[in-house]
Amino acid sequence: MAMRTSLIVCRVVLISLACLIMRLGLTQSAPENALISQIPGFTGTLPSKHYSGYVTIDQTHGKNLFYYFVESEGKPTEDPVVLWLNGGPGCSSFDGFVYEHGPFNFKAAKSDGSLPQLHLNPYSWSKVSNIIYLDSPAGVGYSYSKNRSDYRTGDLKTALDSHIFLLKWFELYPEFLSNPFFIAGESYAGVYVPTLAFEVVKGLDAGRKPLINFKGYLVGNGVTDDEFDGNALVPFVHGMGLISDDLFQEVTTECKGNYYNPLSENCQNKLAKVDEDIDGLNIYDILEPCYHKPAIQEITTSESKLPSSFRKLGETERPLAVRTRMFGRAWPLRAPVRDGIVPTWPELLNSGNVPCTNDEVATAWLNDATVRKALHVVEESLVASWELCTSRITYYHDAGSMIPYHKNLTSRGYRALIFSGDHDMCVPYTGSEAWTRSVGYAIVDEWRPWISDEQVAGYTQGYDHNLTFVTVKGSGHTVPEYKPREALDLYSRFLAEQKL
Ligand SMILES: *[C@@H]1O[C@H](CO)[C@@H](O)[C@H](O)[C@H]1NC(C)=O
Ligand SMILES: *[C@@H]1O[C@H](CO)[C@@H](O)[C@H](O)[C@H]1NC(C)=O
Ligand SMILES: *[C@@H]1O[C@H](CO)[C@@H](O)[C@H](O)[C@H]1NC(C)=O
Repeated sequence: MAMRTSLIVCRVVLISLACLIMRLGLTQSAPENALISQIPGFTGTLPSKHYSGYVTIDQTHGKNLFYYFVESEGKPTEDPVVLWLNGGPGCSSFDGFVYEHGPFNFKAAKSDGSLPQLHLNPYSWSKVSNIIYLDSPAGVGYSYSKNRSDYRTGDLKTALDSHIFLLKWFELYPEFLSNPFFIAGESYAGVYVPTLAFEVVKGLDAGRKPLINFKGYLVGNGVTDDEFDGNALVPFVHGMGLISDDLFQEVTTECKGNYYNPLSENCQNKLAKVDEDIDGLNIYDILEPCYHKPAIQEITTSESKLPSSFRKLGETERPLAVRTRMFGRAWPLRAPVRDGIVPTWPELLNSGNVPCTNDEVATAWLNDATVRKALHVVEESLVASWELCTSRITYYHDAGSMIPYHKNLTSRGYRALIFSGDHDMCVPYTGSEAWTRSVGYAIVDEWRPWISDEQVAGYTQGYDHNLTFVTVKGSGHTVPEYKPREALDLYSRFLAEQKL
């Protein structure tokens, strides 16, 4: 009887609490069915709450975007919320989760068919932020649409869709609406990030609810502008000692600085010589060997689009210092992203593998049935398997140069951090350095080293309007993978508005 009474009292208290919460407008909070209770391969205690699931962004088409949300291990109620996007186009943001700044380090299984072992990552970006890993657009990673016509898409549509995702996500997690919000990504997300930021700001201008507390964005080795990116390679390979002074002078004279769109045959011949010299390097980190599975013998293709540096893949005995990596689609070397359709790796290579790259751990883990279940992934009839980068989508680069987007956003007071691993030859820092300078803002923090752990970690130049360019010394294309400690330091300081 006493117990019953106390139960009733509890119910009354609960009901009035619920009423109070409703009066405060907090009608909902993090959806319980999205909570991850157990993570296959991980035996410890989770340092914060993890959620995952789908947000339906188009009911009639059955278009659903998958997210994995990691609450901050610091102060989840105050720390920023950051949306993370990998590039491609076509690559899953589990790339960042598994190989870059996610909460776990993955250790490959000893035998085929068993699960990788997960250990906590001391440099997880969840140390200082709440972070949403989003698979976008539909067709990528675990995201899908029941109407396959959605798999033909482009920059502008993707930004609209991701904006809808965000509005709906914040409706599901209203307790995070007042936290500062940032958008971050790398590589082709150099296009996703500013285009989505622009949609978010347009939404705010229009008073579109829920009102997102948008503060700024981060882009790492991001595709930005075909001319700046396309002209970046020659100065990069010269500075890195990969071509001779003589060849550099000749190519400069013949091409007059226009390597992106060679106008004369002499220029083209010199560029062919440059390509020959750098053939065989790992474009994602010129200091790393080009790894590949022994099974991939030789890529046989008549595709002339195939960048010469990918035709021969070197063998190495070296254990993998970093994962052998990639991200996606090809804008390699002098033929970067151009307007129009962006070819997929599988299309370029006639194989499902991305060159110089190994994605075995992620592929093994994310295709395990217990993992799919734990992560609330839909049945296989809807998403057959997880792929690092997919050729399921047909993708158009239709947003043009990102420079006008950056100008617009920064001039309106949104903070921007443009960072570059300085040994990446895929989107070389020389292009990012040049375009940030071209925006024309006053330099407020002149080129200088920035220090992490009492060492020079790279260089930075700060501009008016909170536009900051920074290099990470010795890093390849995916900075948090190559330099996790420095990356977390950079990230934390940017979010906290501290000086680099
Ligand atoms: C898929 O979407 C397209 C474009 O909205 C529409 O024309 C088509 O009827 C849809 N297909 C199905 C099977 O619903
Ligand atoms: C930014 O873009 C918006 C929307 O197109 C436009 O209304 C606004 O004038 C632009 N602002 C600046 C400073 O360029
Ligand atoms: C730079 O960011 C800080 C912090 O958000 C803000 O107070 C300041 O007004 C911004 N400066 C400019 C020029 O936008």
